[in-house]
Amino acid sequence: AYRAAILSFDPDTGAPRHESDGLLMTGPGAGGPGAPCVVLALGPFHELIHRYPGLDVESLPDHLIAPGFVDLHLHYPQLDVIGSPADGLLPWLEQHTFPQEARFADPQHAASVAEFFLDELDRHGVTTALTFCTSHPQSVDALMSAAQPRGLKLIAGKCLQDRHCPDGVRDATEQSLLDTEALIARWHGLGRLGYAITPRFAPSCSDAQLQGAGELAARHPGVWIQSHVAENLDELAWVRELYPRDRSYLEVYSRFGLLRERSVYAHCLHLDEDDRALLRERGAAAAVCPTSNFFLGSGCFDFASAWRTGFLHGLASDVGGGTSLSPFRTMLAAYEAGRAAFTGGGPAKAGVSLAPSRLWWLHTAGAARALGLEGVVGNLAPGCEADFVLLDPRATPLLARRTAQARDLEELLFALIVLGDERAVARTVRAGSLVD
Ligand code: GUN
Ligand code: FE
Repeated sequence: AYRAAILSFDPDTGAPRHESDGLLMTGPGAGGPGAPCVVLALGPFHELIHRYPGLDVESLPDHLIAPGFVDLHLHYPQLDVIGSPADGLLPWLEQHTFPQEARFADPQHAASVAEFFLDELDRHGVTTALTFCTSHPQSVDALMSAAQPRGLKLIAGKCLQDRHCPDGVRDATEQSLLDTEALIARWHGLGRLGYAITPRFAPSCSDAQLQGAGELAARHPGVWIQSHVAENLDELAWVRELYPRDRSYLEVYSRFGLLRERSVYAHCLHLDEDDRALLRERGAAAAVCPTSNFFLGSGCFDFASAWRTGFLHGLASDVGGGTSLSPFRTMLAAYEAGRAAFTGGGPAKAGVSLAPSRLWWLHTAGAARALGLEGVVGNLAPGCEADFVLLDPRATPLLARRTAQARDLEELLFALIVLGDERAVARTVRAGSLVD
């Protein structure tokens, strides 16, 4: 049990809840041995402590306990692509991304990057991630086998790409689907691991591959789907050429049965009202990737239209198009993308000011809702798996100065978002297991 200030969210409204002197009690859940630790109780310290006499409590004054962050979309094989400039998405894929991903044919390379990646997630307070691997099945095995003993909530999948990409990363249609099926059987549901069927994006997948992916998705409703959609204007024009009969880019995925609950589409920048309505109807989610969208010059997510339609969405780093694994950098960029009154090529959008607690929700409980894992991860409420971060608002001088001046929770969270980084993540705790 821990005594500290505690941030959590109302499970229904997403409104922030702040215990300024709280008690968080965690312990084994109902899942039996090996099951993740869960939150047993959360509330004001002085109320709860009487109910549990003799409780062993670690006191963490001046610290804030908050739900572990949920990164809705990233690419673990792209750590070595971060900060590689190019003139937009398609040249960036050709010049930087595919050559780095080709290295994952080597299982030893994959294993060493996997360990490094998981260490970095811990340092940044990310306890749940939905990540791409490369087209090599061994890149999935490397990551899953490294993640399993760490007890992190990790969802990942082998990238499907049987056309329009170079030798060394291009897969073969039939084999790619057989590999996907075998990887689902090997990893999905093992401990906290989950599998995601992963067509890279419509331009890199043949009709037969998308068709096969859709059939797998229908046979495995608990498995996730992840892909990219409507990120960049050149990509959009290419999709129109490749799929002239489909009303929109998103419709291509829909036609192949890839738009359903537990499907997460990165970017969703250049959508129209029909696309937004389709996302909502299907219960599909958008992964909003603002540092990537700024770095590649793709555009700015239209939060006001997303709220109006009410489709699921949450925040993501999209490393290595994204520039940082840090949830603080992603939340700040999301705020900036919200303020911007343009989408990047399309019609103007409304500039909005996302509240700090809303940004935080979008990277924790809201992102968990987008994954269909509401009440499981991304929040601290009785029954939730006990993933959390211990934040030190005095980690650096300017952060300490600004957080000391905060008059309320929103000001405290905004100071952390703007000035915080991994130095403020004093500890990451996942499902009860301690990570330094
Ligand atoms: N679209 C297809 N592949 C990718 C990728 O690796 N990163 C981003 N940002 N967009 C993509
Ligand atoms: Fe991506």
